[in-house]
Amino acid sequence: MNDLIGVSYDTLIPNNVDLSSDRRVLKALEKWHPGYINWWNDMGPSGFQESLVYLRTAVSVDPKGWAKFDYVKMPEYRWGVLLAPQAEDRKIPCGEHYGEAAWQEVPGEYRAMLRRLVVIQGDTEPASVEQQRHLGKTAPSLYDMRNLFQVNVEEGRHLWAMVYLLHKYFGADGRDEADDLLRRTSGSEEAPRMLGAFNEATPDWLSFFMFTYFTDRDGKLQLESLAQSGFDPLSRTCRFMLTEEAHHMFVGETGVGRTIQRTCEAMKAAGIDDPYDIDRVRALGVIDLPTIQKKANVHYSLSLDLFGSEISSNAATAFNAGIKGRFQEVRIDDDHQLTTATYPVIEFENGKITTREAPALTAINMRLRDDYVRDASGGLKRWNALIKKTGVEFEVKLPHQGFNREIGTFAGAHVTPDGDVVSADVWQSRRAEWLPTKADGDFIQSLMKPVWEAGQYASWIAPPRIGIDNKPGEFEYVQIHMA
Ligand SMILES: [Fe+2]
Ligand SMILES: [Fe+2]
Repeated sequence: MNDLIGVSYDTLIPNNVDLSSDRRVLKALEKWHPGYINWWNDMGPSGFQESLVYLRTAVSVDPKGWAKFDYVKMPEYRWGVLLAPQAEDRKIPCGEHYGEAAWQEVPGEYRAMLRRLVVIQGDTEPASVEQQRHLGKTAPSLYDMRNLFQVNVEEGRHLWAMVYLLHKYFGADGRDEADDLLRRTSGSEEAPRMLGAFNEATPDWLSFFMFTYFTDRDGKLQLESLAQSGFDPLSRTCRFMLTEEAHHMFVGETGVGRTIQRTCEAMKAAGIDDPYDIDRVRALGVIDLPTIQKKANVHYSLSLDLFGSEISSNAATAFNAGIKGRFQEVRIDDDHQLTTATYPVIEFENGKITTREAPALTAINMRLRDDYVRDASGGLKRWNALIKKTGVEFEVKLPHQGFNREIGTFAGAHVTPDGDVVSADVWQSRRAEWLPTKADGDFIQSLMKPVWEAGQYASWIAPPRIGIDNKPGEFEYVQIHMA
């Protein structure tokens, strides 16, 4: 790919930041680019770099420009640097600088904090690509394979977005951080990714759908709060990333939904009413509902950990500085400074789960997590409506927030999915009812047989209701040329 250096990056990298007249940043990105392509080839979708994938590419941020569909080889995808339009007269929406003009340059006093936020966000983007790199080989359809690759290239673009900010606004240490984003690897012993959930494996497609539903949604909430940053370039970057993130949520929600749909239909056709008749359900080549619930339990609890401790002085500092707001900060009706406000915080103490009012400023993480829980519950309603429609009696539930947690007040607690506090022994003895066992994982794995014929779907998943870009059912979303 070295021949790409010297090519006009203004045309190679779709951008609305006037890269062509910003020689310094252009040079920095030119230098970073070969390492990125190497990373993509080594750590991106394994085996499909030569395939033609029907992808949408963002070439501008207006509604007509950001979803251009065409066949493209992934290493030739045009990863762009795109920021949402600058809002006129935008003000810092929270904290001690509330109401002052938003910063167009990094405020010196908050430089380190801002850089850290950009790096943490940036680190998650390539991590998920790494976690998902082997899934193409077991795609249940070309439609699903294409969606996986779409998510992957967009996470790659999100990395570009953060790297642009690092190069543009953080000088030499920004450049070093940008290099490190390609050095760390998901699951690595020596240089793992920064956050726990991003070092877990994504071994099968149900895990992928659960990940995009639950863990990408953490990303969405983090982006929402960074979109409220008083540092305007970060806000604009995140606002545009959110438009892409919506598709990732869609892939997760419909992926789980289609899995559930297929299971219920197969049960009905076979005359099985009891969702817990697991052997008979599995014999149909579908994933039983209790196992789907267990997968939801694990991905949800891991994702809750990403919000950090309920009470956090770092979160308070970032909010007070005006560099990270709350979910939909500008729509909240309060003083946006939280000098006297309180917020109810869940707490585990002396074996009891209680709620207490804490200074709202310190409870920013708790609040964002509450917003997440609300946001995440919407899909479950729709999944349960699907189940109900088929006549099967089962309900997928979000487990209690204290279940299976490793960060925050519930770390080390033994809480059941229903929210009962039990002894360590009881919890361990019932673990297999609540979290996927090795046998569950092996069974799911046994279903992961590739289906690469256009319009065909694996036994365990229903076809989508509508195609991508309104394409018909038999559309060939990926033209496979094995590397
Ligand atoms: Fe992302
Ligand atoms: Fe995402």
